[in-house]
Amino acid sequence: MDYDALKAELKQTPKVWFVTGCAGFIGSNLVETLLTLDQSVVGLDNFSTGYPHNLDEVQQRVSREQWQCFTFVEGDIREPEVCQRLCSGVDYVLHQAALGSVPRSINDPLATNQSNIDGFLNMILAARQADVASFTYASSSAVYGDHSALPKVEEVIGTPLSPYAVTKYVNEVYAGVFAKTYDFNCVGLRYFNVFGPRQDPTGAYAAVIPKWAAAMLANEPVYINGDGETSRDFCFIDNVIQANLLAAHAVPEAKDQVYNVALGDRITLNELFRAMQVAMQHHGVAYAHEPVYRDFRAGDIRHSQADVAKAQRLLNYAPQYRVAAGIEETVAWYVEKFGL
Ligand SMILES: NC(=O)c1ccc[n+]([C@@H]2O[C@H](COP(=O)([O-])OP(=O)(O)OC[C@H]3O[C@@H](n4cnc5c(N)ncnc54)[C@H](O)[C@@H]3O)[C@@H](O)[C@H]2O)c1
Repeated sequence: MDYDALKAELKQTPKVWFVTGCAGFIGSNLVETLLTLDQSVVGLDNFSTGYPHNLDEVQQRVSREQWQCFTFVEGDIREPEVCQRLCSGVDYVLHQAALGSVPRSINDPLATNQSNIDGFLNMILAARQADVASFTYASSSAVYGDHSALPKVEEVIGTPLSPYAVTKYVNEVYAGVFAKTYDFNCVGLRYFNVFGPRQDPTGAYAAVIPKWAAAMLANEPVYINGDGETSRDFCFIDNVIQANLLAAHAVPEAKDQVYNVALGDRITLNELFRAMQVAMQHHGVAYAHEPVYRDFRAGDIRHSQADVAKAQRLLNYAPQYRVAAGIEETVAWYVEKFGL
């Protein structure tokens, strides 16, 4: 089934979804889409890196009736009984809660391990015990580690380069074991550099696009680590939402798998800078400075690009947003939120 057909079917026959990390960037966007499709959604977040204002924004963007189909619980995936209680009566789990960021995990591996591995185990166990129809979880391109060949294909990974990468790899190993041991339906999605509205621009661990958007709007320097020819497969949030909804409904031969979720293309940081500068211009913000180049960041890989053929073939994944279109929508959001 393709994405449009799936959305039509969901509208016709609403289901119950459980989104962890629902106050974060990706989680809040998933909640918004599900509510606009008239689904019932349970959301869990401990506000460690997510915000109540993300959920306030979702509320503003859906109808009153749709918002009434959302139940938010402030709580922690590190608490097994919370996970068990909230999985009860759920059809599909979209597990997004985790501590992101490679540098954060290098600074505090214990905290990353507790949410990303202990919390993951609590969630997958609770989901299996509740007999949910599927368990879709956020993995990461970090799992490719030191493997440098491009494009990245799911079956060939390297050695992890950070505690964060270890946690996401362990998630995949656990999911594989749960699929085989308990015949449990789980699908892992290896996200590549996701961006879009509601991605946090603040703090030491902010991702590049929100960080640059905030700097441009404040007319402050934009820093590029290295020469700017480092490239990434930037993926707009709508493509990620599509992958999650399709994965939750994976046909039998598509289950017990991990998939790259990306565009299958890459742009350099220099190209990204220009694209953001142009998009800012479209929204009335003239950013006239050149980027400031500084040292390469230790541990950063030079290039990253996904092969998305497996997701296309088995999940019917068809990313609808190219980078430029995604950047336009994203910059529009930052200008509205943080512009003058
Ligand atoms: N954004 C990306 O580019 C990217 C890339 C690869 C993987 N991922 C993964 O996607 C998922 C979502 O990432 P995001 O970018 O939306 O990050 P985010 O920080 O905006 O969202 C994560 C959410 O999980 C919540 N959370 C963290 N630990 C929790 C806990 N113990 N209990 C309950 N809630 C908890 C946070 O408060 C936050 O709201 C994460 O699993 C992340 O590792 C993201």
